[in-house]
Amino acid sequence: MSALKGKVAVITGGSSGIGLATAKRFVEEGAYVFISGRRQAELDKAVSVIGKNVTAIRADVTNQDDLSRIAVAVKAEKGVVDIVVSSAGITEQGYIDTITPEHFDKVFNLNARAPVFLVNKLLPLMTGGGSIILVSSAMHLMGIAGHTAYAATKASLRSYARTWAAEFKDRGIRVNTLSPGVTDTPMLDSQAAGLGDYETVVGHYKSMVPLGRLAQAEEIANAAVFLGSDQSSYVTGSDLMADGGIGQV
Ligand SMILES: NC(=O)c1ccc[n+]([C@@H]2O[C@H](COP(=O)([O-])OP(=O)(O)OC[C@H]3O[C@@H](n4cnc5c(N)ncnc54)[C@H](OP(=O)(O)O)[C@@H]3O)[C@@H](O)[C@H]2O)c1
Repeated sequence: MSALKGKVAVITGGSSGIGLATAKRFVEEGAYVFISGRRQAELDKAVSVIGKNVTAIRADVTNQDDLSRIAVAVKAEKGVVDIVVSSAGITEQGYIDTITPEHFDKVFNLNARAPVFLVNKLLPLMTGGGSIILVSSAMHLMGIAGHTAYAATKASLRSYARTWAAEFKDRGIRVNTLSPGVTDTPMLDSQAAGLGDYETVVGHYKSMVPLGRLAQAEEIANAAVFLGSDQSSYVTGSDLMADGGIGQV
């Protein structure tokens, strides 16, 4: 398997869930990956799961200095970046009756603002033929109660992909969103915390999915391999929905 042979990738949120599965698949396909997250213990575990060709950088992507540190570390170690995967994100419910500015800012800072400055900092290192993958969500085109801020942040990523595809016209860099459906990762625990017990929340989501089950993170990672590799060489400004059909029906 060598769809990403020799490629250098930066994957935020690479210590857990979809980001971790993507980092693992990228390395299996021949890439070198830089992963980031805030918790050192999770990063250490991820490095051992990935096994080789990985550097972990402890960083909070909402912090400009931390983003600069990621760029400096990648430049020093590899000189270039071929693939950027922005996967770090949170979900937190907020119904419009009770929504707070703190909740809104927290969700927007991480899910919508951080990817802009991540790309801003890494762009000078990106090669022609590079690929940017913004992990959005099927929720960017759905209306699910309690997700005013979250769904809007995911719609913003869809918009960035269109704008940046136009901006990168002469640079040979592609940019796309990857929109998972409900995926079995630690994020589901925080969904459950906001909406009820885990089984009820998962059961509710499953009933909405045409394929009748949650996604495994590896299934989303496979879609990321496609978007990161030359197999998607004519795909930019688009949205790849790996959602079991939840956003389609
Ligand atoms: N799971 C789903 O059902 C689902 C569905 C659609 C879309 N998505 C999207 O997929 C992406 C990944 O979600 P997941 O399910 O893989 O979640 P996850 O397992 O909870 O992983 C989230 C990752 O983001 C990192 N992170 C969180 N805040 C950060 C910060 N301020 N700075 C740097 N890293 C930070 C976490 O590490 P630390 O906490 O250590 O920082 C962790 O590595 C998210 O953007 C999410 O919105 C998920």
